[in-house]
Amino acid sequence: MNPLTGTVEGMQSESHSPVRVGLLGCGTVGGALARIIDADADRIAARTGVRLEIAGIAVRNLSADRDVSFPEEVFTREPQALVGSPDVDIIVETIGGIEPARQLVIDSLKSGKPVITANKELVANVGQELFEAASAGGVDLFFEAAVAGGIPLIRALRDSLAGERINRVMGIVNGTTNFILTKMTEEGAEYSDVLAEAQSLGFAEADPTADVEGGDAAAKAAILATIAFGAKVVAGDVYQEGISQVSKADIAAASHMGHVIKLLAIAESDGGEVAVRVHPTMVPQNHPLASVRESFNAVFLEGAEVGDLMLYGRGAGGGPTASAMLGDLISAARNLQQGVAGDMGSFSEVAIRAIDETTSAFYLQLDVEDQPGVLAAVASVFGKHGVSIRSMEQQGQGATAHLVFITHKAREADMQSTIRELRDLKEVRDIGALIRVVGE
Ligand code: HSE
Repeated sequence: MNPLTGTVEGMQSESHSPVRVGLLGCGTVGGALARIIDADADRIAARTGVRLEIAGIAVRNLSADRDVSFPEEVFTREPQALVGSPDVDIIVETIGGIEPARQLVIDSLKSGKPVITANKELVANVGQELFEAASAGGVDLFFEAAVAGGIPLIRALRDSLAGERINRVMGIVNGTTNFILTKMTEEGAEYSDVLAEAQSLGFAEADPTADVEGGDAAAKAAILATIAFGAKVVAGDVYQEGISQVSKADIAAASHMGHVIKLLAIAESDGGEVAVRVHPTMVPQNHPLASVRESFNAVFLEGAEVGDLMLYGRGAGGGPTASAMLGDLISAARNLQQGVAGDMGSFSEVAIRAIDETTSAFYLQLDVEDQPGVLAAVASVFGKHGVSIRSMEQQGQGATAHLVFITHKAREADMQSTIRELRDLKEVRDIGALIRVVGE
């Protein structure tokens, strides 16, 4: 017991009124957060000094079955009523999508109510508008859950690494695609079978296009680049390729070369320019990202002073996402009680480096006629475009030979020109997926 405060060591005293939360949306994430607050308000208050209370929950359908136990009068079909209510202190947005979420968040911030959101689409597309509204309103806008769910990543970048010069961020930020690639790698499973399994387990979106074609990861990459580099980056700036073209042959070739294939979100800051891309990537088996399996997420940061750093955890699901939102909620509530707001920081306009101007090593497989002179013809196309071959392996023989190339680092535009010219060679029968190789 502390004789001055009368509190037990490690406990906080509750000297403030409860912080009243207006929850917009009560789906998987909103419902999980409401349940935690309902069940754990005493423990949270004892530990943090902040007593959270659900003041209202805006839902689309009042009569839907929900796994939360609040009196009927807590629910409303009018989210704007919660935003405008004098009985609500903080808004938590779990509706998703751009509208009406954008308007509700802006209105809330302008009226001086802090906002917690998990909405990656919103932050990745109109983040600057939201940041300005938060600064103008002098209130907090937190979005930890928008990238990599339960991993405390945005706070680490904004606070712990606030002064660090981050050069590169590489993340596995989509659980569905990591699950699919893991099963294809470890069990030799077919892409379509594993996708169905991911959907039945509930972490793929109902329409999994955003997962498998890279859109979900691209939105997260834009947010990561914004926060890591203090740069104005939006989802439209991100080059995006998904995993639907990755074959079992690519996975087997990667494994044969001591690599694994991961869908990576990569954000790099170099010479005043920022390059942000999402694509299947070959990563050496001894790289920390290679060991991130199933639906887990991880983000690997390269800082000038801190060196390499990796954060790992659950990137999706009600519990992990609600956990991140709860941390944001407690921070915002503490700031509210102290009459302060966290500074959003400033974001500068930067030149976005086009994918053509980025450099990588590349993996490419070709089916060619197995005839004298074919290899020389193919190799001369690489050389003509300034792409240097690091290794080549022939995996078949007979009528058709299967050639697997790994290049040294080359400009993307030069590699693309190489492929265009290879397509015109009569000896080349088929060209497989182009996969970038990083992390060596
Ligand atoms: N569908 C996403 C994933 C989760 O598979 O990681 C939400 O961002």
